[in-house]
Amino acid sequence: MLDTLRSVVRFGPVETDPVRRRLARAASVEDLRRLARRRLPRGCFDYIDGGAEDERTLAANEAAFASTTFRPRVLRGLSGIDVSSTVLGRAAAFPLVLAPTGFTRIADPDGELAVARAAGRAGVPYTLSTLATRSIEEVRAVSDGRLWFQVYAWRDRGLVAEMVQRAAAQRYEALVLTVDTAVFGRRERDVRRGFSLPPTIGPSTVVDGMLHPGWTLALLRSEPIRFANVVGREVGDGSSPVTLADYINSQFDPALSWADVEWLRTVWGGKVVLKGIQTVEDAVLAADAGVDAVVLSNHGGRQLDGAPATLPLVAPVADAVGGRTEIICDGGVRRGSDIVKALAAGADACMAGRAYLYALGAAGEAGVDTLLGWWHDDVRRTMALLGVGTVAELDRSLLDGSPGEG
Ligand SMILES: Cc1cc2nc3c(=O)[nH]c(=O)nc-3n(C[C@H](O)[C@H](O)[C@H](O)COP(=O)(O)O)c2cc1C
Repeated sequence: MLDTLRSVVRFGPVETDPVRRRLARAASVEDLRRLARRRLPRGCFDYIDGGAEDERTLAANEAAFASTTFRPRVLRGLSGIDVSSTVLGRAAAFPLVLAPTGFTRIADPDGELAVARAAGRAGVPYTLSTLATRSIEEVRAVSDGRLWFQVYAWRDRGLVAEMVQRAAAQRYEALVLTVDTAVFGRRERDVRRGFSLPPTIGPSTVVDGMLHPGWTLALLRSEPIRFANVVGREVGDGSSPVTLADYINSQFDPALSWADVEWLRTVWGGKVVLKGIQTVEDAVLAADAGVDAVVLSNHGGRQLDGAPATLPLVAPVADAVGGRTEIICDGGVRRGSDIVKALAAGADACMAGRAYLYALGAAGEAGVDTLLGWWHDDVRRTMALLGVGTVAELDRSLLDGSPGEG
């Protein structure tokens, strides 16, 4: 009996670092989400996790990946798997771009700096949001990696032109114009909690703050959270708490049109990406306008509830514009196998937002490193199990319901 016991009992070294201990217990994005939920005050978690109205589009994005199945091929004699790809004409370690997310510092004090560093290490582009809590310059100062900058149509176009110049001066390679935010979506979790940016610690949230002392202390110790790209500007930099709905509805121009896309080209010489395309018709117009990529996106279900899930749009859009403009599928990506599904349907890359915010909220920068490592491995493993050696070989014959189905 002692021999048997000896053969099964193993005491590994005890992990003393709390972040590494937390990460060691996580194996999936859902685990990171649960950890983030525990660490962040509910208002902050819900701001990240939630969507518009009944959250049907949010759920539909994930459900579309869940209901898409593969047609794996076997005995293909593959000797190696290469997951590298190109996005906007330049190399990426695997076909992923980190999506822009405003107010990233509510997940972790390092916020956008942590995410940009992790993306650079993983070899994938990172998109900095207009509403970031670290500036265009601060992010470039910590990362030599591929950076894209996301713009909204501020009513003050002079402000847009100025931001664009700053992005060019800092070697951002692409401008991502978000076009699905004519007005702000109704995010009911935020409405119920009276959630403002920056989050306030008042009578209603003080208990929440006390229940999350690590987060609260980190917030109090770090510099004030601001819309870092517009600090000191007339538009307001968030130094006094404001609901995002009030801010966006007063500052962003609902009259944005294709003429503005043309205007953008006059102030920006780099790549132009349109984020928030949700129909084949608009994808065709975007290709006609000569944009370098379209991001099929419903803002992660945070804008129009009832908008279509994005994965099912990929194939029809690829049929209509494939080859004329790159296609990036955004929304609902929770695993590397989801990236492979979107590529097999015809996308060139995926974007993801919440997954890295959960990782950041769960374990800071190390959490984002861990997530990107998992996804890199997931893509490789999924391709190996599908019998595919390179990203270029991913096609619809690998998806169930494809024309190849006998
Ligand atoms: C907390 C949060 C903030 C966001 N902020 C922005 C933003 O500032 N600009 C933008 O274009 N999209 C923003 N998005 C949308 C993301 O860029 C992306 O479209 C979305 O997260 C994709 O869905 P996923 O979270 O399921 O990956 C935000 C998303 C989240 C979750």
